[in-house]
Amino acid sequence: MFKLSDSGIEFIKKELERYESKLSAIIPALYRVQKEHGWVSPDAVVFLAEIMDIPESQINEVLKFYTMFNQKPVGKKHVQVCCNLSCAMNGGRELVDHLCKSFNVKPGEVSEDGQVTVTAVECLGSCGTAPMMQVNDAYYENLNHESAVEIIKKLEV
Ligand code: FES
Repeated sequence: MFKLSDSGIEFIKKELERYESKLSAIIPALYRVQKEHGWVSPDAVVFLAEIMDIPESQINEVLKFYTMFNQKPVGKKHVQVCCNLSCAMNGGRELVDHLCKSFNVKPGEVSEDGQVTVTAVECLGSCGTAPMMQVNDAYYENLNHESAVEIIKKLEV
């Protein structure tokens, strides 16, 4: 059964009061769930629907529209490598392959030790410093295969 911390529930209740329409609180609520659990499970949606008094279908619409919400579990280090135009031209796709090999994980899956997930994503807004990646909340630019592996290994989570 899904649970959120007391402070998480308190946060969502405050967000519900903050906006004219409670639908506006869906994004911050989803972020809060993801922050605590790493992803947003179907059980989490049921939980949110109940405490926010919003139909599950409306929460799911938001969850499924925005790719920044994880709809399945991810590793503690969630590595998102940009594979859009600039990054693709500068080796983004090869970087995904290299990272998957280095951490022994398939794209989008969680490594056996639960540490790493590598996914290819669309533009992360730093095209001039391609190739680049996001790991959890931090961004890393001008990468090569060695520097990317090093950054991920050194990162403490
Ligand atoms: S194309 Fe990679 S950050 Fe824009």
